[in-house]
Amino acid sequence: QLEAVIFDLDGVITDSAEFHYQAWQALADELGIPFSREKNERLKGVSRMESLDIVLEGSGLQLTEAERLRLAEKKNDHYKQMIGSITPEHLLPGIPELLDSLAQRGIDAGLASASLNAPLILERLGIARRFQAIADPAGLRRGKPDPEIFLTAAELLGVTPGNCIGVEDASAGIAAIKAAGMTAVGIGSAELLGKADLLLSSTSELTLERLLELLRK
Ligand code: BG6
Ligand code: MG
Repeated sequence: QLEAVIFDLDGVITDSAEFHYQAWQALADELGIPFSREKNERLKGVSRMESLDIVLEGSGLQLTEAERLRLAEKKNDHYKQMIGSITPEHLLPGIPELLDSLAQRGIDAGLASASLNAPLILERLGIARRFQAIADPAGLRRGKPDPEIFLTAAELLGVTPGNCIGVEDASAGIAAIKAAGMTAVGIGSAELLGKADLLLSSTSELTLERLLELLRK
């Protein structure tokens, strides 16, 4: 029986994944190091500092911890400037309807985003109060694909992981949901998200009926 749906944020609720990409690309350009959309795929669901390590991979740059922190801050300043323009119109298709149906059925909504900017983005989207629990990534020891963030959200909600569905657009996220013992819904391509229990090409296909059906199986 479905007790809660636990969402990733970037790329599931809003397309902030694109802003992350643009901000990292700008930083890479500034440093004169190659970066691409393919490489960007590896950053999805990964924390800010781990993302920086991937961006710097193979660059040959030898940086101190202080320099690394400064670069991460620079990327984040640029990113925050971009997300400042987010409005409720930036909700991905089907998400407002799904949040409505969950509320009507008394099914919880939780958030499991690795982004420290998640609360700000939910505010800008006008849906902060629709979530009964938001796992704080700052308090976690391990990022996705570790299940910790999904298990933390379930614990905050007081629900059983086996009665939860997790929704993700990143392969590390699908792995985290499965490792948490939850049912995984992937938004994207089979190439990246083949391990999901249900794969949808767009959030517009993400309806409560589909999710209820998935747990009945
Ligand atoms: C995740 C994104 O949600 O948050 C990653 O998928 C991002 O790409 C991570 O690096 C951390 O985000 P932030 O906002 O804390 O830098
Ligand atoms: Mg994501």
